Amino acid sequence: MKTIQADITTLHVDAIVNAANTSLLGGGGVDGAIHRAAGPGLLEECRTLGGCAVGDAKLTKGYNLPAKFVIHTVGPRWRGGTAGESEKLASCYRRCLQIAKENGIQTIAFPAISTGVYGYPIEEATRIAVTTCRDFLKRQAVAIEVTFCCFSGRDLAVYENVMQKA
Ligand code: AR6
Repeated sequence: MKTIQADITTLHVDAIVNAANTSLLGGGGVDGAIHRAAGPGLLEECRTLGGCAVGDAKLTKGYNLPAKFVIHTVGPRWRGGTAGESEKLASCYRRCLQIAKENGIQTIAFPAISTGVYGYPIEEATRIAVTTCRDFLKRQAVAIEVTFCCFSGRDLAVYENVMQKA
């Protein structure tokens, strides 16, 4: 597992993860950036998927992106921490990795799911991202290369700190 600071739409990996909403029909933040870079084919395919539940994930092709696939997941909105947010966020990471495993995806990049518009505190979200992915890879004995893609330098510092400790 590694951490980088980048625009996730530029990454040459098998799959990038989108922090979407339950409609899967686009939005702001990383979702908007991915749809803009992928082109209209992505929205067309997303329309056929019937949305996605919080904590679940769905696979599409990557269209004009350098990544071959997009795995769309829906993180929880932060509601103070007592509404099952941590379990739902962990589920996002697990479901994405499960889909990656099932589809022979060997390299995957995650944005910091839920930490933008959905307001999840970055330190807590990062701990969940790192421990959930590490545990999945260990338990499933799969060799998927996981990259945590941070948009800001501040988020990168948090990820580096958490990864050293975890
Ligand atoms: N590359 C990498 N990370 C990015 C990029 C990018 N190009 N752009 C933003 N981020 P957010 P959420 C970071 O708000 O909190 C959408 O409208 C951003 O700095 O994109 O899960 C959806 O449709 C932050 O660290 O996703 C939903 O309605 C992280 O991506 C809602 O927002 C996640 O921020 C989902 O909210």
